[in-house]
Amino acid sequence: MSAQVKLSVNGLPVEVPAGASVAAAVAQVTMQFRRSVSDTRRAPLCGMGVCFECRVQVDGVAHVRACMTAVTEGMQVTTDA
Ligand code: FES
Repeated sequence: MSAQVKLSVNGLPVEVPAGASVAAAVAQVTMQFRRSVSDTRRAPLCGMGVCFECRVQVDGVAHVRACMTAVTEGMQVTTDA
């Protein structure tokens, strides 16, 4: 049994297995990760750090690729979708 990590996504509590990506945690709350410059809602596309469609704010740092970032205890994630 793997350890669980507790964090928040858009202010909502989320619990995922240790080692999970921020994208996996966000997907438990919403599949709308960000908005494009033309105000279109965007979501992860490649899942491997190339497309940048999964960018979210993590602990106040903008433009973090959710698919490339592992969750940590108490992390605060915010989407703009
Ligand atoms: S889903 Fe493409 S960079 Fe994260």
